[in-house]
Amino acid sequence: MGEWKIVHFFLDPNQGDVTRRTAYIRYNGPLNGAPSFTIISNRCAHLGCPVQPNGPSFPDQTKSIDTGGGQHVTLIKMLPAGGFGCPCHGGQYDQEGNRTAGPPVRSLDRYEYSIRNGHLILGKTFSVAKVKGSGKDAIIYRYRLAGPGQHITGWEQIFYPLQPPQ
Ligand code: FES
Repeated sequence: MGEWKIVHFFLDPNQGDVTRRTAYIRYNGPLNGAPSFTIISNRCAHLGCPVQPNGPSFPDQTKSIDTGGGQHVTLIKMLPAGGFGCPCHGGQYDQEGNRTAGPPVRSLDRYEYSIRNGHLILGKTFSVAKVKGSGKDAIIYRYRLAGPGQHITGWEQIFYPLQPPQ
């Protein structure tokens, strides 16, 4: 419980590498009789660069699983003790994906999920304004998926997307 994995997978195995995605997944223990997970997208909320864990990963503890239909999932143990950081413009996030520094305008996106036959199934991504608390007790202020740089709360949202003069 509490262990993080870097997870690589294909959004659409038929489309190949262009649909390769990365999520950061933590098992939070049981909640209301079902397993609880935190599943964070690695797409920075500033301009979409891939955020990295601020801590070590352990490639020697990699697991690769073929789940059928061309889907290949890779899990790598990691310890994002300092949260997540973006290499492009220095955006920083805590372990719940809350922005803590730099230019991102909101928290990191998350994945919906379900448990089917004992397997974790990732669903759609959604955007997050902020997360209060942590793990299975977290309160997530969620919104429909928004683009990088797009404000989803506050007065700034009325200006997005900016249109150039015609
Ligand atoms: S794209 Fe991540 S800080 Fe700019």
